[in-house]
Amino acid sequence: MAQAKHIAIVGATGAVGEEMLACLAERNFPMGELTLLASARSAGQKRTFRGEEITIQELTHDSFIGIDVALFSAGGGISLEYGPSAAAAGCVVIDNSSAFRMDPDVPLVVPEINPEAARSAPKKIIANPNCTTIISLMALYPLHKKFGLQSIIASSYQAVSGSGAAGIAELEAQTKAIANGEEITADMINCYPKQIASNVIPHVDVFLEGGYTKEEQKMLHESRKILGLPELKVTCTCVRVPVYRSHSVSITAIFDNPVDVKEAQAVFADYPGIQLKDDAENEVYPTPLDTTCKDDCLVGRIRKDQVLKNALAIWVVGDQVRKGAALNAVQIAEIL
Ligand code: A2P
Repeated sequence: MAQAKHIAIVGATGAVGEEMLACLAERNFPMGELTLLASARSAGQKRTFRGEEITIQELTHDSFIGIDVALFSAGGGISLEYGPSAAAAGCVVIDNSSAFRMDPDVPLVVPEINPEAARSAPKKIIANPNCTTIISLMALYPLHKKFGLQSIIASSYQAVSGSGAAGIAELEAQTKAIANGEEITADMINCYPKQIASNVIPHVDVFLEGGYTKEEQKMLHESRKILGLPELKVTCTCVRVPVYRSHSVSITAIFDNPVDVKEAQAVFADYPGIQLKDDAENEVYPTPLDTTCKDDCLVGRIRKDQVLKNALAIWVVGDQVRKGAALNAVQIAEIL
């Protein structure tokens, strides 16, 4: 029987923090105590966990004494400032931000893919990968084992909850205004560079040199690190869409070996965390509503790419607040 742990959630009032609380409650996690941390603005608020009321405390550098594992989801700045204090206090940090992901001494873990990496964390910090990367690799890893992954060409359709509570509020306010026949004014556009309601925005995170965004380059660098494929080629267009929850990704994956659709479908038969929903004749394929608030990712529309050799076109959907963030972090805590 695993020893009951004292867990903390940093950013407990955020979209991902709230989901971490839900995942911990639902799963048979060997929990001793739970500490909820957020900014001074939220200190004193209460949350209920397994029937018990817990008061949210203000995050400080002294918050981590006696805590075994801290799940961080309060943004990269908070992780950089408080993650090392937590590790110095003897706590293992599981960080949902991008702050430490590419540090060679910080493992980047998807438990269904590289769980062994979590056992070697010299800085006592383990990084949770980017949400679009996790969801894409959940579908690509079983195919990689079968056919040998060489390159990825992808377009994402990313939900607003990926931007936290502010993204959800912005889509809600704009949708309401449109329904009431009101104009979308400049003061209603804060979270995204353009109106998100009735629109799609090919711009997630900041632009880097070469015209790609940081989100798109996360797919390249994080996929290489998680899969242990330093030569993997990835080109990606990340798009924000007016969907509240669950990211979708359209992927062309090029393999070393010849592919076969039936064999590709078969690899998902009993793979943990991903299910096949693929029957084009009967219009069966996954959509974001199918994975919302669910643990498993869904894959469908598997077909041979008509342009490239040894390539498959696939469509994968997953709840990015859950498997793309909170659930993945809790699963990492479970394997420690
Ligand atoms: P708070 O609600 O007190 O601001 P989201 O990604 O959904 O916007 O959530 C961000 C999370 O990060 C929230 O829980 C938020 O708490 C927390 N947070 C933001 N700034 C700080 C801070 N300075 N100290 C601690 N937690 C913070």
